[in-house]
Amino acid sequence: MDHAAALERARLLLAEAPRVLVLTGAGISAESGVPTFRGPGGLWKEFRPEDLATPEAFARDPRLVWEWYGWRRGLVAACAPNAGHLALAHWMLGRAGVTLVTQNVDALHERAARTAATARGGDPSPALPIRLHGSIARVRCTRCDHGAEGDDPVDATARETLPACPACGALLRPDVVWFGEALPLPAMQRADAAAREADACLVVGTAGAVQPAAGYAMAVVRRRRPLVVVDPGPTAFDGMAEVKLTGSAGAVLPPLLG
Ligand code: OAD
Repeated sequence: MDHAAALERARLLLAEAPRVLVLTGAGISAESGVPTFRGPGGLWKEFRPEDLATPEAFARDPRLVWEWYGWRRGLVAACAPNAGHLALAHWMLGRAGVTLVTQNVDALHERAARTAATARGGDPSPALPIRLHGSIARVRCTRCDHGAEGDDPVDATARETLPACPACGALLRPDVVWFGEALPLPAMQRADAAAREADACLVVGTAGAVQPAAGYAMAVVRRRRPLVVVDPGPTAFDGMAEVKLTGSAGAVLPPLLG
């Protein structure tokens, strides 16, 4: 099948499905300038996750971990949703039955939902993602249950300058899921329910190396429902995809979903 035929087949599969599960990963934000994790230039090529993205790393050296998240926050704040995020947001606002599950912590889906909703004069809620790995634009307390939006610049020059909980004074941490930590249960339950009900699945920009995220797409395939994959590189989903669209999210999603 050539690319045009594959695109048409994928459009039809998604249009015919009353309920669609969309799973996204770092690749959908690559064209916005946010680095991925495992590809060339990926964060886990340059940094060791065990030094920066585990509860042990934070307990050992919270200053270093905050410095890294502060850098990533600044990077993400300087980025904007790309044509892929926006096409997806418009599609979700224009039809019913789509559940978006993301592994990304960059809040670009949320920003795209607001942009698309403003353009359409509507409510962004139907295009907001279920966040499996938390949000870099939120903080939560290491001691009490305080959690809040917060993406101010972080002064990580010393432990004393790190953000403190307004409720109890303990150290705040980024509200993201680190290696070895449980995912937020409500997010997992909603993603699981969407995977059990979906009539088709669209996977964009994830290598499929991390569970349970990858498992939600695989659960749809196990129920013999079609899978469409959009990614310029190889992924763990390629062998099970009804259609693989090899290309970037920004180039493929607008014609696929527009
Ligand atoms: P990866 O870095 O593992 O995979 C990124 C995928 O995006 C690869 O398949 C690339 O080929 C693809 N890609 C690159 N550029 C793209 C583009 N322009 N358009 C579409 N796809 C593109 O990132 P994830 O699969 O998201 O977890 O990684 C999953 C999790 O591993 C992350 O959420 C993070 C990480 O450790 C935590 O931090 C808990």
